[in-house]
Amino acid sequence: MGTSSSSVSKLLSLVCLVMCLGSQLVQCSVTYDRKAIVINGLRRILFSGSIHYPRSTPDMWEDLIQKAKDGGVDVVETYVFWNVHEPTPGNYNFEGRYDLVRFIKTIQKAGLYAHLRIGPYVCAEWNFGGFPVWLKYVPGISFRTDNEPFKKAMQGFTEKIVGLMKSENLFESQGGPIILSQIENEYGSQSKLLGAAGYNYMTWAANMAVQTGTGVPWVMCKEEDAPDPVINTCNGFYCDSFSPNKPYKPTIWTEAWSGWFTEFGGPIHQRPVQDLAFAVARFIQKGGSFVNYYMYHGGTNFGRSAGGPFITTSYDYDAPIDEYGLIRQPKYGHLKELHRSVKMCERALVSTDPIVTQLGTYQQAHVYSSESGDCAAFLANYDTKSAARVLFNNMHYNLPLGPSVGVQTSQMEMLPANADMLSWESYDEDISSLDDSSTFTALGLLEQINVTRDASDYLWYITSVDIGSSESFLHGGELPTLIVQSAGHAVHIFVNGELSGSAFGTRENRRFTYTGKVNLRAGKNKIALLSVTVGLQNVGGHFETWNTGILGPVALHGLDQGKWDLSWQKWTYQVAGWAEREAMNLVSPNSVSSVGWMEASLVAQRQQPLTWHKAYFNAPDGDEPLALDMEGMGKGQIWINGQTIGRYWTAYATVCAEVAEFHPTIKNWHIESYGRAEEFHSPKVHLRCSLGQSISSIKFASFGTPLGTCGSYQQGPCHAPASYDIVEKKCMGKQRCTVTISNSNFGQDPCPNVLKRLSVEAICAPNNLRG
Ligand SMILES: *[C@@H]1O[C@H](CO)[C@@H](O)[C@H](O)[C@H]1NC(C)=O
Repeated sequence: MGTSSSSVSKLLSLVCLVMCLGSQLVQCSVTYDRKAIVINGLRRILFSGSIHYPRSTPDMWEDLIQKAKDGGVDVVETYVFWNVHEPTPGNYNFEGRYDLVRFIKTIQKAGLYAHLRIGPYVCAEWNFGGFPVWLKYVPGISFRTDNEPFKKAMQGFTEKIVGLMKSENLFESQGGPIILSQIENEYGSQSKLLGAAGYNYMTWAANMAVQTGTGVPWVMCKEEDAPDPVINTCNGFYCDSFSPNKPYKPTIWTEAWSGWFTEFGGPIHQRPVQDLAFAVARFIQKGGSFVNYYMYHGGTNFGRSAGGPFITTSYDYDAPIDEYGLIRQPKYGHLKELHRSVKMCERALVSTDPIVTQLGTYQQAHVYSSESGDCAAFLANYDTKSAARVLFNNMHYNLPLGPSVGVQTSQMEMLPANADMLSWESYDEDISSLDDSSTFTALGLLEQINVTRDASDYLWYITSVDIGSSESFLHGGELPTLIVQSAGHAVHIFVNGELSGSAFGTRENRRFTYTGKVNLRAGKNKIALLSVTVGLQNVGGHFETWNTGILGPVALHGLDQGKWDLSWQKWTYQVAGWAEREAMNLVSPNSVSSVGWMEASLVAQRQQPLTWHKAYFNAPDGDEPLALDMEGMGKGQIWINGQTIGRYWTAYATVCAEVAEFHPTIKNWHIESYGRAEEFHSPKVHLRCSLGQSISSIKFASFGTPLGTCGSYQQGPCHAPASYDIVEKKCMGKQRCTVTISNSNFGQDPCPNVLKRLSVEAICAPNNLRG
């Protein structure tokens, strides 16, 4: 049968190197035709996996890439993140986690190919979609449209990256591993909205990219107008109905979503591997030849790199390699089997178009057979009610109902590294002494990013109000109300140094209004609003123009004069008065003694909301992944040895689970030589909260035909009345629970002969917050 992919690619890079050295003409090449990407004359079926270099540490790269290779991945895909590489105009950083050349060379060393998605707009749930914040302040700029300042900057960065790759001989045309590059990202819908300006920009971007002369093809994902020779590609959960815009381009799936990202307080999304593998098999069966898993390893949004608002520090994505770099089963193993099976058929799949034959009423065969005698067949059972036995090529095959690979689950569990409790010291921010040299004043409320330039999440807005001693609320009347309108993302309100309240928006609606009673005194009162960003917008039309921070109005209501609008009075501003500006000094060992640390227990009694906590620990032996469980903390940021790890915000999490009797989108497929066919008995719904949390309420439960998705489930036409009670009984107060999907478990069949499923949405709350 086929050669294994690893030896093929090793062989190719070897041959290629010799050819390039031995000739002035560049002989190594990547081209394409209607069937596939063609590398040095050979059409290839390629499996690719997204691993973003800044989302892991350089020490992890080799292991991650080797695991990807062992999982049957041929190509590693990464975006290029402009804002980490050019923090200020013209000053570049390719160090540490940002060492793109080292990352690509690590891929090369493993004998894999690379797909470089330069963007430079990447979305990627990455801060500001990958754009440097300074770009927003280039005079006359307008992002991602036919705008000269933007195009100049975009071209500059694209050429910088292409030049860097060329200087290290990293394109396949030079003997390197890069076989594909991407320009722009998911621009199609934007382009349509912008009309001619969008179309002109898109064609300019394509031409500009092609002009860089990399010797390898360019792709544009979700851009059906991509001009020749750029290949338009598909992103999605399913891409089997996708075709490229020209018959001579190959069918490429640049993002096969292995799961989904998480937002603070939102559900952790999971995608069953059966569904993912089915979608990939169907794509290949229909003639697709390149599949990239987004993500293969999601990793971590370190520091303040998470996009927003409200994207979490974890970017696990339910990927085959989990956030910590550990193999996630059964996802990893199941996909590996799929890759192996498809690779056995590679030559046949790239040689011809399939002949489709009917094997039964609901059973089909897609047969690929080449002149050289290679042959591959996809046998499919569309019947949703029963398994089938078919005769194909004088052999009998059982085509099961349900996913055709045995389901085995294994759960990774983190064990505590230090048996001893850490001993904590704490330090209170003294918010009464903010009036130092780092403040400035202005009339009125300022847009937050314009002031902070995103050097910090935090901006203080401080003003004062004089309250006359005759105000009725000082003599037994009702307290006045403070109303603060914010454009995002969160705010803490302090009145005379005391926390008075907090509020925050959501990813869908970042604007919010805080309303709360305030305890003012006669004379001068200080109102200090700490406005907080939680990752800058990474997606949306002209998101660079979206405002953030307290834009007002800010007003006091219920005074004797009625309403007092504070929006236009004098405000004092300070960026990061207590946070990152101090962070490095505060947490680096030699400056520790310079501030007033005290034992944590003493601080706790004082109920200060803005507090630093510090502890020392010995790194555990070995080099297993080490994770921090922030359970029990509220919201903040973490540093270890002066390095910023990320934000945390732990209060609540939503978990959702949805399992069908037989997954409705999985028809029943069997690729010749693809695993062992097994029946898929009694599916179960598993709910699991983080350690230290348990299920505090069931927001939704329905066995039947529930509608909607996690976060917005609704009862459908079929619903077992006992659904909620059964799930509640099994799950309330538990860290994890399992509910078996069977009619008997739910009393009776709520709708015979209908494909049913169980959808559950539950809230996990920290154990110590529950009474
Ligand atoms: C940003 O701040 C400057 C003053 O520092 C001001 O002139 C400008 O209008 C502000 N821009 C926006 C978009 O708020």
